[in-house]
Amino acid sequence: MISVVVLISGSGSNLLSLLKKSENPLYPAKIVAVGSDKNAPGLEHAELYEVDTFVVSPKRFATKELWAETLLANVQHHQPDLVVLAGFMKVLPANFVSALKGKLINIHPSLLPEFKGAHAVRDALQAGATKTGVTIHYVDEGVDTGEIIVQSEVSIEPKDTEAVLHERIKKIEHELLASTVEQIAYKQLPALKL
Ligand code: GAR
Repeated sequence: MISVVVLISGSGSNLLSLLKKSENPLYPAKIVAVGSDKNAPGLEHAELYEVDTFVVSPKRFATKELWAETLLANVQHHQPDLVVLAGFMKVLPANFVSALKGKLINIHPSLLPEFKGAHAVRDALQAGATKTGVTIHYVDEGVDTGEIIVQSEVSIEPKDTEAVLHERIKKIEHELLASTVEQIAYKQLPALKL
C-alpha cells in the first residue's frame, strides 16, 4: 500500500475518482492528504472522505521559493510515497520539484509535447486539431516537460465546445490516473531515468 498526497486547484474530479477507487480495500494506494494553493472547491471531496487538507496560498509569501518551501513541508509531513498533481495550476519551482524527484507526477489534458500550459483543451480546439488526449508524466523543472509515463488519445468532434471536450477528456483521465497510480504502487512502471 502506498501513501499518496494529491494537490489540486479546481473542482477535483480526478481527486474524487482516486478517493472512490481507494475505498476498495484491494486498491493499493491510500490518499493521506490533499493540498491546494487556494480554497479550491475540490477540497470538499477530501473533507467528505475525512482526508486531511491543507491550503498554502502563494499570496502569503514574498517569493515563489518560500511558498514552495512551506507547501513542501506540508506535503512531507504526510510522508507520501507519491505526490499527484491533479489539476494543480501553479508552476512549482525547482526547490519543490527536486525534493520530490521521481515521486511527483502530473496529469495534463493533451498529448504532450503538444499543447503545454494552462489552456491545453482550448488551445487544441483553436489549433483545429482532430485529436488530443491525456498525458501522465513525471514533473521536472519545466512546464509540462517531464518524462512521459503514459498517454491516451481522445478524438475531437466537429461540434465540440471546450467544456464538452474537457468532460470527455476527464473521463479518460479518471481511469488513466487510477490505473497509473495502481501500477506505480505495484512497481510495474519503469522508474524515472535520473
Ligand atoms: C484536468 O483536466 C487536468 O488534466 C488539468 O486540469 C483539470 C483538473 O480537473 N490540468 C492541467 O491543465 C495542468 N496543466 P479536475 O479538478 O476536475 O480534476
